[in-house]
Amino acid sequence: MTGKSLLILGIETSCDETSAAVVADGKRILSNIVSSQVDWHRKFGGVVPEIASRKHLELINLVVSEALTQAGVALGDLTAIAVTRGPGLVGALLIGMAEAKALSYVTGLPLIGVNHLEGHIFANFLEHPDLKPPFVSLVVSGGHTSLVHVGDYGNYDVLGETLDDAAGEAFDKIAKFLGLGYPGGPIIDELARKGKPEAIDFPRAMLKTKGYDFSLSGLKTAVLNYVARAKDEGRGVNLPDLVASFQAAIVDVQVHKTLRAAEEKGVDKIVLAGGVAANTALREKLRGAMGKKMALFYPSIVLCTDNAAMIACAGHFRYLKGERLSLEANPDPNLSLGSP
Ligand code: KG4
Ligand code: ZN
Repeated sequence: MTGKSLLILGIETSCDETSAAVVADGKRILSNIVSSQVDWHRKFGGVVPEIASRKHLELINLVVSEALTQAGVALGDLTAIAVTRGPGLVGALLIGMAEAKALSYVTGLPLIGVNHLEGHIFANFLEHPDLKPPFVSLVVSGGHTSLVHVGDYGNYDVLGETLDDAAGEAFDKIAKFLGLGYPGGPIIDELARKGKPEAIDFPRAMLKTKGYDFSLSGLKTAVLNYVARAKDEGRGVNLPDLVASFQAAIVDVQVHKTLRAAEEKGVDKIVLAGGVAANTALREKLRGAMGKKMALFYPSIVLCTDNAAMIACAGHFRYLKGERLSLEANPDPNLSLGSP
């Protein structure tokens, strides 16, 4: 059916989604199976690494088979196998790597290692085929907060990162503390629409600092203190106002730093990536603040959160560059953007 197409099988197991996808020519998604483990982690209010590894092991063969079946391709039709090599949970990464290596070994297909954060950025190329570098990308997920200047395909200059909690982690921890459920990001996003973001003046850490790093632990403490004080004083807490104000404090700093980075780098495109790119306040605030001078890009929700189509897309690009991963390679839980 897709005789001359380059077909990449992507495999993603860096956190709590077991995913496999087939992408044709780096842009057409033939299948993108995402098996979320969220129900197993929910009662713990966060991802339990040991559970994640076990569930990946149970699910990976089924998910890969389903991705091939839905795409209507056999293993022999594939061009290469791309897999997330890091960053992520080491035990979780190991399962995807072992699967990809085994498939590469038995089929003789080339193995391509992909950086998970690069995958999140590449989700935008799947969604917006006309998007081209240079641009500034804010990569915000459960495990990462990075502001990146993408000068060209595969050329990443990390301008700043979080010094403590990642953006999604902060959403998840505050939701857990308030007993709202897991994962916290989408729940807070929705509840915040009923609240006033200016109701509580939470700290905007590092807003005025020169660099592009972020810090969220102070904000987390401020929310905890606010709730404790209200309890001591016998006051009720308006939950929608509280989460709207918390969310606004995160979003304000991200919008400010992202716009400043775009101006300093002289780019007119801003690209959101990662699970927190699904946040409506972040999208709206950024769009409002940048006016008509710049263009804003972000993926649809299913491509914002972890999925293997984005890994296959980044893998396609690395395949064309001639990159290959050895069967001896190990996962790298701290793999940084730009490292080979
Ligand atoms: O990219 P992702 O699926 O996994 C990682 O690579 O970490 O991101 C998951 C994170 C979770 O922390 C989740 O709470 C957050 O993305 N998230 C959101 C929203 N949707 C997902 N955070 C804020 N607003 C949302 N709408
Ligand atoms: Zn991710």
